Amino acid sequence: MQALNGFRDFYPEAFAQRAFLFETWRRVASGYGFVEYDGPPLESLDLFTKKSGEEIVGQLYNFVDKGDRPVTLRPEMTPTFARMVAARHRDYKKPLKWMAVPQVFRYERPQKGRLREHYQLNCDIVGEESLSADVELIACLVDVLRAFGLTSKDFVIRMSDRQFWIDFLKENGVPESEWYLKLQAIDKSEREKPEVTREKLGPLAEKIEKIFAEGGSSERISTVVNGLKAMGLEDYVQVDFRIVRGLAYYTGIVFEAFDRSGEFRAIAGGGRYDSLLKNLCQVDLPALGFGLGDVVLAELLKSKGLLPEVARQLDYYVAIPEESFREQALGLIHQLRDKGNRVDYSLVSQKMGKQFESAESRGAEKIMIVDALILQGIVSVKTVATREQVQVSILDIQNSAAI
Ligand code: HAM
Repeated sequence: MQALNGFRDFYPEAFAQRAFLFETWRRVASGYGFVEYDGPPLESLDLFTKKSGEEIVGQLYNFVDKGDRPVTLRPEMTPTFARMVAARHRDYKKPLKWMAVPQVFRYERPQKGRLREHYQLNCDIVGEESLSADVELIACLVDVLRAFGLTSKDFVIRMSDRQFWIDFLKENGVPESEWYLKLQAIDKSEREKPEVTREKLGPLAEKIEKIFAEGGSSERISTVVNGLKAMGLEDYVQVDFRIVRGLAYYTGIVFEAFDRSGEFRAIAGGGRYDSLLKNLCQVDLPALGFGLGDVVLAELLKSKGLLPEVARQLDYYVAIPEESFREQALGLIHQLRDKGNRVDYSLVSQKMGKQFESAESRGAEKIMIVDALILQGIVSVKTVATREQVQVSILDIQNSAAI
């Protein structure tokens, strides 16, 4: 029996790596004033078929439940977020800044960087029209990635303006019913053969390719770029009109984060979605946000040697060379745990070499040796990294608040 294709088992090493990603996400996002929320992993099917767009609807894990209700595992967080905010927006001061770390499910073909479940950091802001919110959001994404040790040589946020493209389609007489198809063709243009994209874009293909090459003009983009410059983050962003995003609900500035080498899929994506709350829940509030996935991020960090190998699982490993010292060792172990340390030891008599091996394989920071010195009220404490060993009185251990 194996996990389903595209789903992961998180053995302790993988779980520790995941925890490392989540802790960093939460630390940086809360530093930007985002507060955490969560919603249900199973939602009513309607929530996603209405406004997210065909692409994601084709990837839903949906079924009819035992009460004959059409339901689906969430493929993304944004509609749940919109639903929750719309229901209680009066209870919160605007702009509201919320973050979540949901597991989401998409029936995609599993491949490098794409699985059938993944975790996302979502940061969203509601109730602010000003582009200063877009600047704040993009800066937060840059800082989350920088917190892992990635630099402007490793990643770039490619930024564009979907409103520019909507205006372009309007000006060129494209009926509204075709906008989403055209935007999708632009979104996929880098992954598809040029002739396929040209066919989808029809008579506008040449004009659009010119914009890809030369750029378009958008005051919104200039304002956001200037804001990021003021923050000293200009090296992390690049204006690129080929970015429009695959999801249907975006309305303004949109962006995607990529590794500079172009080896991996998108690391993160987001933008403004000023009409989603109104369209889904009749609450007219501007909104914007991003989703950063754990899969591509971990691949990129690994390739750069930025994923810690052995996570520290223990503060102390208590080594017991002779069974006659076990009772005193148990007393000490308990005291160490009471002071908030993570402590483990061998449950049965074992050679010291084996006990040291266990300590190292568990990433213990220190090894406490309880041997004959205990009769004089002393133990030896060895710091694993430096191999330095000192003697400590057990009275000191008992009397200090933390050790
Ligand atoms: P998204 O671009 O569909 O946006 O997903 C965001 C990120 O999730 C992607 O850049 C990628 O890293 C990761 N991701 C997506 N699909 C998969 C997959 N099958 N396997 C592994 N990772 C994946 C959204 O989901 C929007 N709801 C983000 C957002 C929040 N927009 C506004 N607020």
